[in-house]
Amino acid sequence: MAEKLRIYGGRRLEGTVVVNGGKNAALAIIPAALLSSEPCTIENLPQVSDIAALRDILEELGASVTLAGSSMTIDPRGVHSTFVSEEHAWRLRASYYFVGALLGVFGKADVSYPGGCAIGSRPIDQHIKGFEALGAEVTVDNSMICARAEHGLHGAEIYLDMPSVGATINIMLAATRAKGNTIIVNAGKEPHIVDLANFINAMGGSVKGAGTDTIRIRGGRPMHGCTYTVIPDQIEAGTLMIAAAATAGDVLIRGALPTHMEALTAKLLEMGARVDEGVGEDSIRVRSDGNHRHVNIKTLPYPGFPTDLQQPMSALLSTARGTSIINETIYEMRHRHLDEIRRMGGQSEVRDRIAIIDGVPKLTGCAVTATDLRAGAALVVAGLMAEGVTDIYNVQFIDRGYEHLEKKLSQLGARIERLPADAD
Ligand code: EPZ
Repeated sequence: MAEKLRIYGGRRLEGTVVVNGGKNAALAIIPAALLSSEPCTIENLPQVSDIAALRDILEELGASVTLAGSSMTIDPRGVHSTFVSEEHAWRLRASYYFVGALLGVFGKADVSYPGGCAIGSRPIDQHIKGFEALGAEVTVDNSMICARAEHGLHGAEIYLDMPSVGATINIMLAATRAKGNTIIVNAGKEPHIVDLANFINAMGGSVKGAGTDTIRIRGGRPMHGCTYTVIPDQIEAGTLMIAAAATAGDVLIRGALPTHMEALTAKLLEMGARVDEGVGEDSIRVRSDGNHRHVNIKTLPYPGFPTDLQQPMSALLSTARGTSIINETIYEMRHRHLDEIRRMGGQSEVRDRIAIIDGVPKLTGCAVTATDLRAGAALVVAGLMAEGVTDIYNVQFIDRGYEHLEKKLSQLGARIERLPADAD
């Protein structure tokens, strides 16, 4: 049943909230469990629909999966297929990680083309470049990614044309079971790439240099089971930080790793918000009087400003004093949510990847539609700030990446409810 979020805006967020486990870390780690010869248990998983989609794919392949709350146990010993159907693959982008995992283990993978947020063309040429360097033959049509390595995979040195998160992860998965050593140059450095490396090493693999632009993998090592806890979600933490500032609130975000949040923290401080890092603990406190200066943002691969946070940030900037500019260098179509914020009274103009946002005194609630996951997050921030009531449709997009967001915000003082989409 289609649902919507209804937000009665203008209320300050105050109190303490706990960050979930990282969605994008979990989406890389769950397929990696296929690399093991024994069951693995992964803990601190966010209870979001993307995780359930990966469970369904694992079961389709023949693995046995037990998902209980935030813990998933995966036994890969029953896997009897290397085919991932369109029925499941289209539900998320991360389904393509099964290409690297299945190719590494079985020398074969037939994975229907992935889905994911409509924020650009999102090509996979760097993934294919990596697989071919490792000795695979890959064919892609508009529905399937088919990879074969009749004689197994071998180590290689792979230079990525750009620090692609997905390509880095997919190559790590395949290279872990390749015979020989692999070097990925110009690799992504995101926290969830480091988390995946730590998980592979916990299974007996050897991945060094994750978090730098050169990752070295010693492949072909025996892989055993393990229990692993996923890192906190950098993007959920950032979204909550932005919401706290947007409502002139005072929020302590527990579980947030300050080192992962530096780019956002710098921009919130530049705007005039107060950000204090937990002394001796993983937490961040955000306070604001609601009077914000405009700032300019350029999204970049980690540790630059995360593209996944520019959309929620654009809502905050909609009522900052002056004109802000957001340069979205990662995706070519990630400003569509500004159409919806304009309906709420925001003033902005988009020229290709550049958004120019003129701050207005206030936003006014109305009916708006989420076009993707982080666009939905942006509309939640806008609704929290706005005068009056905001109904956000397509809430299923938000549910892909935020666990019970309305409950967390309600606990902080927001008045927000989940309703059937056709409710008055
Ligand atoms: C991951 O997407 C995340 N998704 C995205 O988060 C995030 O925005 C992105 O990394 C950047 O941080 C998951 O982890 C499941 P990329 P991914 O490979 O792997 C170019 C969210 O909201 N590119 O770094 O697809 C292309 O322009 C989602 O949680 C190629 O040209 O990111 C692409 O747009 C949205 N060829 C850009 O890099 C390739 O082969 C970023 O891609 C690969 C990428």
